[in-house]
Amino acid sequence: MTQDHKRRHSSVLVDGPRKAPARAMLRAVGFTDEDFRKPQVGVASTWSMVTPCNMHINQLAEEAVRGVDGAGGKGVLFNTITISDGIANGAENMKYSLVSREVIADSIETVSGCEGFDGLIAIGGCDKNMPGCLIAMARLNRPAVFVYGGTIRPGRGHTDIISVFEAVGGHSKGDVSDERLREVERTAIPGPGSCGGMYTANTMASAIEALGMSLPGSSAQDAVSETKLEDCRRAGEAVLAMLERDIKPRDIMTRQAFENAITVTIALGGSTNAVLHLLAMAHAVDVELSLDDFTRLGRRTPVLADLRPSGHYMMSELVAIGGIRPLMKRLLDAGLLHGDCLTVTGQTLAEDLAGVADYPAEQRIIHPLAQPIKASSHLRILRGNLAPDGAVAKITGKEGLRFSGSARVYASEEAAQEGIADGSVQAGDVVVIRYEGPRGGPGMREMLSPTSAIMGRGLGKEVALITDGRFSGGSHGFVVGHITPEAMEGGPLAIVRDGDRITIDAEADSLTLEIPDEEIRARLAHWTAPAPRRSRGVLAKYARQVGPASGGAVTD
Ligand code: FES
Repeated sequence: MTQDHKRRHSSVLVDGPRKAPARAMLRAVGFTDEDFRKPQVGVASTWSMVTPCNMHINQLAEEAVRGVDGAGGKGVLFNTITISDGIANGAENMKYSLVSREVIADSIETVSGCEGFDGLIAIGGCDKNMPGCLIAMARLNRPAVFVYGGTIRPGRGHTDIISVFEAVGGHSKGDVSDERLREVERTAIPGPGSCGGMYTANTMASAIEALGMSLPGSSAQDAVSETKLEDCRRAGEAVLAMLERDIKPRDIMTRQAFENAITVTIALGGSTNAVLHLLAMAHAVDVELSLDDFTRLGRRTPVLADLRPSGHYMMSELVAIGGIRPLMKRLLDAGLLHGDCLTVTGQTLAEDLAGVADYPAEQRIIHPLAQPIKASSHLRILRGNLAPDGAVAKITGKEGLRFSGSARVYASEEAAQEGIADGSVQAGDVVVIRYEGPRGGPGMREMLSPTSAIMGRGLGKEVALITDGRFSGGSHGFVVGHITPEAMEGGPLAIVRDGDRITIDAEADSLTLEIPDEEIRARLAHWTAPAPRRSRGVLAKYARQVGPASGGAVTD
């Protein structure tokens, strides 16, 4: 391989007399003669002061640039956007959340494609920006390393953002005083970092490490730590080494690597959003991955981590006992991971994990394989006459494995929220929230406020919730989302009426509307689609473009 293969994209823009104008502009941002002979590595920063998850990321990005420069490349820092689910949840604003994944992927692809970067480092620290970064890397297929921004530390009294959401539910019931609510609000978020349980951010960080696209240990580090800065510097070195050997995302993001990511997600008790994002990431590299792969792998993979939201501990406590690498080593030794997958280190996963020490004997966060929290996956793919193309449930077993109840139907999250708050939702109800799918919402909002309100009112074991929207990684309870086809597309969810009996069976993996087929057909024949909620702007464009949740809600 020639020296030039490392500069195959940048050389188009900076080599030769005719490229003097490009060089003139780059000299103004600090390029020297020598820099024009180096591979250029774009460093995509998701820095933003809109949210604590990403407020520290510019420092990390600058460290990654130093890592690139120190390893003989030329790092070029650029920004993309981020949004915060934790802030937008429970409002119309949240419709922009999943859309932002596409905006982030498109923007990183656009800048890197236009500016001729030979390699890429992307640093993300919130739910949507991480899969957005990976989708961009997959599309560009240039040597690339993902860096996770790191987890937040716990708030006072072992609290986090979900404690605040649930305090709101308790407050509306009268169990939580104004003063206590104010105190949780003031002390639950102590500084920079991603939401502190095994919610979507920590789930995706772990899944990406298992996929092989971040350095070993990257997913389990505190946001503010020397190890996180070191991770950034090493990412710079790693991307240069990948350029040298011409290792690209499509060499790493194989079908087997996605199976590793799914297995680790399940073992950690990760978020339902991982299903959506992993499907979308696989689509971006043309890897065949379907909902059925989650079922197949879920049958043999136990849930081992006692982490929030369903469990007790927080990510920073897992960091303190060694992070996810000892867990991955256990899974590998048990034959549950493919050890021969290549990673960004240039080694195989098995080589990366060789010599990793096990957890300290006294820890209680990660259960032994022989004594799992749940013997099979908590992420269940349900099908049935209410979800012919699939739905995703998060069933830890704590809520039971079967729920049969009477439908209480709402056409939006806000309407459901009101029904829960005013006591219309009673024990034994299945709350149905529809027209919240990718196209109908539009934007497939997370139903964190309704699930937190149900928990806060003490109805977690007596009320189920089903929707064509999705859930926050912080949601727990008897919840089923991603119902496909969505109501806006004329899925059977659209014709459920108040009082209909609905059964969720997490053993049979079914979601059933207990009315005769002829009645379903008759109701569907009379159904007409409501007018789209948006006619202009990014949400309208998204609604026209987006595919079904069962395919990852992709737009290309
Ligand atoms: Fe950013 Fe939770 S809102 S990680």
